[in-house]
Amino acid sequence: MKRMLSGIKPSGQLTLGNYIGALREFVKYQEDYEMIVFIANLHTLTVYQDPKELSKNLKDTIALYLACGLDPKRSTIFMQSDVMAHAQLGFILSCNTYMGELNRMTQYKDKLSKGEESMTSGFYVYPTLMAADILIYDPDFVPVGEDQKQHVELTRDVAIRFNNRYGESFKIPTPLIPKVGSRIMSLSDPTKKMSKSDEADKGCIYLLDKPEVARKKIMSAVTDLVGVVQFDPINQAGISNLLTIHSALSKVSIPDLVKQFEGQGYGNFKKAVADEVVKLLSDLQSKYEVILSQHILEEVLESGAKKARIMADAKLKLVEQKIGLTIDQ
Ligand code: AMP
Ligand code: TRP
Repeated sequence: MKRMLSGIKPSGQLTLGNYIGALREFVKYQEDYEMIVFIANLHTLTVYQDPKELSKNLKDTIALYLACGLDPKRSTIFMQSDVMAHAQLGFILSCNTYMGELNRMTQYKDKLSKGEESMTSGFYVYPTLMAADILIYDPDFVPVGEDQKQHVELTRDVAIRFNNRYGESFKIPTPLIPKVGSRIMSLSDPTKKMSKSDEADKGCIYLLDKPEVARKKIMSAVTDLVGVVQFDPINQAGISNLLTIHSALSKVSIPDLVKQFEGQGYGNFKKAVADEVVKLLSDLQSKYEVILSQHILEEVLESGAKKARIMADAKLKLVEQKIGLTIDQ
């Protein structure tokens, strides 16, 4: 069975974008792959987090993972900081990555161009920690949204360089980008990604939003003056985004939806999108409540970390031997 790995950074409440672009895919992949899914809590620290809020986000994230259908019996589910080998390998890989490579990372360049003053060194090197998160488990595939592809490509470059320098050590992973929904856009500014770190709350649907709040957000989503429901991301970014959301949730293809809403106004179409979203949120939230009431999160995380540590510690040991950090040469 091929192995697949991915992580989500819990730096805020999970969004509909996370669900469509990531979580929903992970759940499907459990059928055909050995899945390793972790909560990238160390990655959140690259930007200051209020400790109480972070802790709550971690708890909600793991509960939502389970509510979405990730099954701890089938998949390895754990918290990144519970497996210390990630950070150790991260440092080793940062010593095999050039600053020139990190300077080319889009997220870094964006922050730099915005004149961000409080950029931490952790933020700058985080792609090397992400490379460690991946390479330490030798996955075949890494499913990520479009925005993370560059980091997986860097991971491949670092792994190839490491293998050339020190001998075969890591499998070279392949990024997997979902076709529909790899980039759900903000409802209030459909030229930007829907993001949990977005200040503009109106543009983002959180998985724990009250269904009626989510409905309002969809109904007030920015559209255009064209007045035709059709897929044209350049001229009708808002409507195209709503089509993507509907299609991802209803599994009706975009061309079929366009036919279905031919000649209808945006109001009707938005109502149909809102119905799909509300159905999803109600279902997820009732499962989430049950999971919280069962008090199983610690146990799930501990047994996931145990499985992960066995794999990660073995890989770290091999790497340490390869690079001469041990005395047993
Ligand atoms: P993040 O929330 O940025 O840590 O992303 C976690 C995962 O969800 C990554 O695989 C992202 O690419 C995916 N993701 C986040 N936001 C979106 C979005 N708006 N549309 C699609 N996928 C997303
Ligand atoms: N950096 C990713 C994000 O911001 C999260 C992440 C951390 C990740 N480590 C990973 C994703 C390893 C895939 C594989 O979304």
